[in-house]
Amino acid sequence: MTDPVQPVRASLTLDPAFRVGPVDPRLLGSFVEHLGRCVYTGIFEPGHPAADERGFRRDVLDLVRELGVSVVRYPGGNFVSGYRWEDGVGPADERPTRLDLAWHTIETNAFGTDEFMAWCREAGAEPMMAVNLGTRGTQEALDLLEYCNHPGGTRLSDLRRANGAAEPHGVRLWCLGNEMDGDWQIGAMTAAEYGALAARTARAMKMADPRIELVACGSSHSGMPTFASWEATVLEQCYDAVDYVSLHSYYDPSGKSVAEFLAGAVDLDRSIEEVVATADHVGARLRSRKRLRVSVDEWNVWYVSRWDPASVTEWEQAPRLLEDVYDDTDATMVASLLITLLRHADRVGIACLAQLVNVIAPIRTEPGGAASQQTTFAPFAQIAAAARGSVLRVEPEVATYESELGDVPYVDATATYDEETGDLALVLVNRATDRPAHIEVDLRAFGDAYGGRLEVRLDPVSWQVVRPQRAPRPGS
Ligand code: AHR
Repeated sequence: MTDPVQPVRASLTLDPAFRVGPVDPRLLGSFVEHLGRCVYTGIFEPGHPAADERGFRRDVLDLVRELGVSVVRYPGGNFVSGYRWEDGVGPADERPTRLDLAWHTIETNAFGTDEFMAWCREAGAEPMMAVNLGTRGTQEALDLLEYCNHPGGTRLSDLRRANGAAEPHGVRLWCLGNEMDGDWQIGAMTAAEYGALAARTARAMKMADPRIELVACGSSHSGMPTFASWEATVLEQCYDAVDYVSLHSYYDPSGKSVAEFLAGAVDLDRSIEEVVATADHVGARLRSRKRLRVSVDEWNVWYVSRWDPASVTEWEQAPRLLEDVYDDTDATMVASLLITLLRHADRVGIACLAQLVNVIAPIRTEPGGAASQQTTFAPFAQIAAAARGSVLRVEPEVATYESELGDVPYVDATATYDEETGDLALVLVNRATDRPAHIEVDLRAFGDAYGGRLEVRLDPVSWQVVRPQRAPRPGS
């Protein structure tokens, strides 16, 4: 037992020779769903004083660029499983208003695919599109792909051109539906049914555009009764045709001690490893040399227990839904979850903080008013700005505490290193609730470059990104 009045003492060694894998910028992605005020009065609000002529809020775009998101998933989420993409293209005044059954909301379709692509260009982010495999199927997925990616000379590519997008949108990343195992999902199905549909759709989509990368739906979360068996059954059918399998992980602080809540990153750690093990098992059975990667395309802190779908009785446009307000503990958890994602950079290729604006998001807006940062903005932005090159293998020596998930280290850590620029970054979290952490970092494997060692002190329940400066080389 550690003396409670003493700081938690941790030590770790960084060595540029021991690497997990490259820092894929796609690990720092996010998610925009037609849900609540994420799109309407979030990223898009015609008439707002900060909006451009297309209705994109420039104040929000500034924050999105500062956040540093690399890839943005769209348009859902549960929304996509009832969505007709054709409703959201063409002249705005001819677009139909529809019922969105997923969120019991009126959808005007004022914002759609072409607006999203233009918005992504402004945000400097790569689009990641989801297709509707709930109420629709292979043909509609192919139609959207043709609309987005075919250069021209076909009905749907010419429609895109007529709608003002002369160049193809060139979307590389596509999700084959969303959470198709969940009984809340429109068109939810069994693993065998979804696996067959995902396989058919994936093969056809790659015939239309072989450059695309496809994400098959994994389980909605690791607590689903079919977790792992869902992945196995689905991948048995579509392994050859897809590139990623998805994992969604939300962490709810409600009703938990801070220590128990912060232990949740261990659950993410295990869930990633279990999905990888399941995918590799299928790969081995199929005698495939290909290895799938995991797309953690929804993750965050979410006060899920505060969300009562039955409370939404009226059909409204852009209602206030899931507008969680975050505190410093939530920000520490976000840093810890990012550490976990980076630590798995060898197998996790995409990760999307869900969501981007207003809906369980790091950015908040008021209609007609200001845009602001939540506490969770800073860890994401600082890590996105600092993480370059490769993720280093970091194994802190530190005491653990007991939790429902087993023993949890008080200190969580990862590091990235860019050999070319010399950019070194450490991300550190102290999970102890009652004392600071004192962390000694051994940097001798870098020679004299960073002075050999470093000491960092962290307050209880806090995070830090440390960027040691490289000493000037003699003669430079
Ligand atoms: O991000 C909110 C919702 O959470 C998404 O629509 C769904 O995919 C998940 O269950």
